[in-house]
Formats: sequence, C-alpha cells, structure tokens
Amino acid sequence: MVPPHVQVDPSRLLVLHGRVVTMQCSKDSHVNPVTHAIDGGAVAIEGGRIAFVGRRSSLPLRFATAVPVAVPLVTPGLVDAHTHAAWVGSRHDEYVAKLRGDPYEEIAARGGGIVASMRALEVSSQEDIASELMARLRRMASLGVTTVEVKSGYGLRPELERKQLAAIAEVARRSRAGETLPRIVPTFLALHALPPESRGDADRRAAYVAGALSLLREVAKAGLAAFVDAYVDRNAFTVDEARSVLRPARELGLGVRLHVGQFADVGGAELAAELGARSADHLEVVGPAGLAAMAEHRVAATLLPTAALVLGQKAPDVAAMRAAGLDLIVASDANPGTSPTESLPLAMMLAARTYGLSAAEVLAGTTRLAAASLGLPDLGVLREGAPADLVAWDLPHEDAILQPWGTSRTLFVLRDGVPIHHVVDVTAG
Ligand code: NIG
Ligand code: FE
Repeated sequence: MVPPHVQVDPSRLLVLHGRVVTMQCSKDSHVNPVTHAIDGGAVAIEGGRIAFVGRRSSLPLRFATAVPVAVPLVTPGLVDAHTHAAWVGSRHDEYVAKLRGDPYEEIAARGGGIVASMRALEVSSQEDIASELMARLRRMASLGVTTVEVKSGYGLRPELERKQLAAIAEVARRSRAGETLPRIVPTFLALHALPPESRGDADRRAAYVAGALSLLREVAKAGLAAFVDAYVDRNAFTVDEARSVLRPARELGLGVRLHVGQFADVGGAELAAELGARSADHLEVVGPAGLAAMAEHRVAATLLPTAALVLGQKAPDVAAMRAAGLDLIVASDANPGTSPTESLPLAMMLAARTYGLSAAEVLAGTTRLAAASLGLPDLGVLREGAPADLVAWDLPHEDAILQPWGTSRTLFVLRDGVPIHHVVDVTAG
C-alpha cells in the first residue's frame, strides 16, 4: 500500500491520504469529538506547514498536481511533555536492586538515585551529554515523537547544571537549525535533589536553595529554559523551598511545571495552583484538595505510568481527576532511575491498560493537551497553517497505537515537514 519511495522535500508539496486524525476539537457529529478522525482524509504539506487537512474529496484543485501518497493512518506527531532525557550512563544496578525489593528512596539515601546520575554527568563532557541526548531523541522520533520536553536536574551543583543546560541548548539549537531531531522544550529543573555536600545541615540546605534561585536568574537571562521545575515531596523539597525559587520564575518569563505527590502529598499540587503552573506531574498520592486546587487554576495533570510501574505503585486517582475536569496528559518521564524507558507509546499503553484512560484520552494527552501544556497550541493538532509535525503509521486505526507492540510502528515521522525518521524510503526530492 505504501510506495517504497516517498519524496519529501520541505520546499515541495506533499499530499498524504488515508485515515487522518486531526485532534482538532470539533462539533461535527460525524467524527469522534476528541480525535476528529476522517476516513478518506488528506493532508497537504507545503513549506513545512500544513496547507490543507480534511476530506480527500474536498482537496483544493491547486494540490492536484502532487502525486498523493497513500498511508494507512496519519496523526499529529506525539508530544512527550515530561522527560529527563539528557542523562548519561546507566543505573541498571539500581533496577536490579529494586527487583530485589529495595525501595527507591532507600537506594537514593545510600548515594544512588539522582546523585548517581550527577556523578555520571560530572565525568562527562558537554559534547558527551549532547550526543547521548541526540541519540536518545532519534530513538524517540522513531516511535512517533516530534516534540520532547527535556529537563536538566542531574547537575545539582551550579557548574554541572550549567554544563547539562548548555548541552540541552546545543541540541535544541541543532534541532532548530534543521537537524533530524524532534523539537526540544528545555526545562530548568532547579530543585531535584541535594548534592552530598549540602545535606545534613539546615544552613547548607538553605544556601543550596538560595543558590538555585541565583542560577534561575542566570538561566532566564541566557534564555536557556522555557520552564522551571522542582521536585516537591518528602525526601525532596518543601513547598516553601520550591515557592522561594519558583515564584520569581513567573516574573522572569518562565513557565512552571512541578513534580508533586509521587510518594507523599505535602501540598505540591496546591503550590502548582498558586503559581499558575502549566502542569503538575506524577500525582500518585495527591488527595482531593490538591486536585480541586489544580482544577480551579487550570493546572493540567501529567501522568507517568512507567515510573509508577517501576516503583511498584498503584495508579493515581484518575476518576477523581476526570471528575475535577483536569486535562490529562501522559508522558514517559524518561530517566535512568524510575522510568528507564524512552518510549512514549509504552507509557500510552500503560495509561490505557493500568490507569483506565480511554484510547481517545490517551491520544489527546500525548498530542493536543501535551502541546498546550508546553505553551505550543499549534502543535499536537493537524490544522491548516500549523507546522507539519505528523506521523504516518503502519497501523489501521489510532486505537491500535495503544497495543503493546514493543516496537516502532511508524512509516515516517515529519517535523516541520522534514522526515526525522523513516522506514519507507523518504528521500529529499
Ligand atoms: O520523575 N521524582 C523525581 N525525579 C525523577 C526521577 C529521577 C531519577 O531517579 O533519576 C522522576 O521520577
Ligand atoms: Fe520526572
């Protein structure tokens, strides 16, 4: 069905036809109100943007010059809104310890966890970090991911954090310059864990938090991040500590997203609401008050089911989140400790199978809603004028994306109309 050679040149016209999932909200009663899928649909791409999307029978005459390419299924590119993808090294030893029954917080307390990744970062150059990140992003692209939020947070010490942020910025620059990479949204994870030298003493701890604030000012000034994040939990940072760093972030023009309620509900969801965060993430143990505060302030809920699986945790209260009217986002949490995977489709599968999200909810939470939470409302939808970030799938229906394939099912993946991954030969024309 799919021709072996698909000519894709951003300067030329490309017309795809097949089942087209636009993810545009629609009142058209003939289509699913969430996914807005069109059988017999078409997408025209010109100059890296979507020039037409709709029924093939309505394709304007001016697009008739292009030879249309038949693909089974087209969706917006997937958006992974929570990753720690700029890590180096491997923590497989910790994974084996977890399999033996050692709790994550105990592993962290004995010098593993986030500090183990800090040590790996310490002995890596900026170039090493950038090249591991690029390889990982390319593997993510092969799974259909066209936008990736990438957090810092493994440096812990200012000089190491600067190195990690610089590596992320370098990869983001290469992506913007047209390298075959997904789009990057950089986040400064200002408070993730205390480095060993700042532990065990209240003054050292306070000095560390104050240092994070001055680094934040530096990061904002240098334009190194779009968002700032903090880990608010027991054995992590308190609401007051996080507030002291994140409140100024808004004035500095940065968006806020937070790690909250992974192990204990210490009020992180309420803080996310107070700060007008775009998203509060994890939420495994957040209670009704936190969810209500999030709903009131339109904070999206980002679910990370691969992390919960690795930690042997039960599902968060998705029914309560739905009842509160929260936008549900699904992300990979790609990191070497709690979620050693690069696969957003794996997280999507688990969100459906173990969290009970509907297929349409999962798709919305990895396209339109995920993009909106990153402040990119033009992405995660197929809409005329929007960047042509899309996936052609070797699958008959969007619900099939959720099955546990364990392999890539993409035919080709375009970002700004340019192939960042292809199985069928997508050569520049
Ligand atoms: O999202 N919860 C804290 N941060 C990460 C884990 C990072 C790590 O263990 O390396 C998370 O699960
Ligand atoms: Fe995380």
